Amino acid sequence: MTRLRGHAAFVTGAARGIGGSIAARLAAEGAAVVVADVDEEAGRQAAEKIATGGATAVAAALDVRDAEAVAAAMTEASARFGKLDILVNNAGVFRDRRLEEMSDSDWDTVLDIDLRGYFVCCRAALPHLRASGWGRIVNISSRAYLGNPGQVNYSAAKAGVIGLTRALSMELGRDGITVNAVAPGMIDTPLVRSHAKADEVIARAVASTPLRRIGTPEDVAAAVAFLVSDDAAYITGDVIHVTGGRYG
Ligand SMILES: NC(=O)c1ccc[n+]([C@@H]2O[C@H](COP(=O)([O-])OP(=O)(O)OC[C@H]3O[C@@H](n4cnc5c(N)ncnc54)[C@H](O)[C@@H]3O)[C@@H](O)[C@H]2O)c1
Repeated sequence: MTRLRGHAAFVTGAARGIGGSIAARLAAEGAAVVVADVDEEAGRQAAEKIATGGATAVAAALDVRDAEAVAAAMTEASARFGKLDILVNNAGVFRDRRLEEMSDSDWDTVLDIDLRGYFVCCRAALPHLRASGWGRIVNISSRAYLGNPGQVNYSAAKAGVIGLTRALSMELGRDGITVNAVAPGMIDTPLVRSHAKADEVIARAVASTPLRRIGTPEDVAAAVAFLVSDDAAYITGDVIHVTGGRYG
């Protein structure tokens, strides 16, 4: 597949999980890919693995909360690949607790990474996308934007991502830049497996999912690859749910 040949993509949180699959998929479709992650060693390994398969990938060690580091990495990528025209905001964390147990730090950390980090990366990417005359931003939200008990911080951040996506699509349409979101349901990644009651949580999700399984990172990557391709040229400000039909 060569849908993305000639494009250069910056994927955050790409060392593993959903971001790792997105980076691998975009590279397999021909894009040069920056594997951006706070975990330097894992990011380096992920980029190396993609490059071993013959695709183009480099690692960038950064925290999406660090505006200077993000801007520097994007400028470097743009110089290296001659352009940077795709941004996938994916880096995210959760700190699940009921409201009465939730600390200021639980709230701030999730909002800072899962929402403010997306804003920081969108703003830094904009000059590069504009210079390309064609651009794609895909923001990974979550089905949790509809609300999940124990996740007021995460649900608020992920709902914020949808608002950011819709507003930005209106600002950037005239520049030939589309901005969309993907809202995954439960996806089998290290983040989900790190949950204290992972098996129980997964079993409950499977039982309430019409397609009777949780998703894979590749399920999400396929939706992202579509949105950043010319096949989605007339889609902007939208949300694709990759949930196996589960909304509640
Ligand atoms: N797994 C799910 O069920 C699920 C469902 C819906 C949405 N999502 C969303 O998908 C995205 C990826 O989730 P995942 O399950 O693959 O997570 P994961 O924990 O497996 O991977 C997340 C990656 O992001 C990196 N990261 C974390 N904080 C960072 C920071 N401040 N700066 C840069 N990189 C950082 C981590 O090092 C890690 O490599 C997140 O935004 C998450 O909210 C996940």
